[in-house]
Amino acid sequence: MRRLGNAALGAAILIFGIAAVWPRQEAPPVYGVKLPKDYRDWKLISVAHEAGRNNDIRAILGNDIAVKAFREGKRPFPDGAVIVRLAWQYQSSSRNDTVFPAPQSFVAGEPTNVQVSVKDSKRYAASGGWGYGQFEKGMANQDAALTRSCFACHAKLEALEAKADLVFTVYSE
Ligand code: HEC
Repeated sequence: MRRLGNAALGAAILIFGIAAVWPRQEAPPVYGVKLPKDYRDWKLISVAHEAGRNNDIRAILGNDIAVKAFREGKRPFPDGAVIVRLAWQYQSSSRNDTVFPAPQSFVAGEPTNVQVSVKDSKRYAASGGWGYGQFEKGMANQDAALTRSCFACHAKLEALEAKADLVFTVYSE
């Protein structure tokens, strides 16, 4: 009896444990966008640096569909295009600076977050055809307000540059 109780308790803890952890790792709310497994192997579209509060350095990568569209200047992006934006703390490197005549070297420090934009014109029709998600340390950020803020801001590009299809990044040759 006691044995069975312990086993049942163990199973309950396991099930609740999995239930608590599982959705956090999978997808952020609102769009259900997942972190693509092989995104770190994708091709480089461009880089960016944000000063101010973010103070980071970024790389923007795309899957084959996205990179092809960038290279051919195809807009709107076709369904299946996925763009990821990686960011790291923007760090001065005293180690690298020892070989330079003046302090000048900045490198990628700790990763901050990965943002993902997925094009699916039917599924995400209500947000310009794009689904968005943010990930930290491989875990999906579950903040719905944050996830909604993506489209709210990217949509502002529509008025400035309708042809950009809500994507700010320009391909760097
Ligand atoms: C306040 C405005 C703003 C918000 C909010 C915002 N973005 Fe962006 N995003 C930008 C700008 C501007 C760029 C290009 C410059 C840069 O990366 O610094 C960008 C770049 C990107 C890129 C690279 C492709 C592109 O569109 O240029 C992705 C992917 C991206 N954002 C996804 C997201 C996701 C996901 C969220 C929400 C979790 C989000 N963004 C929230 C303004 C915003």
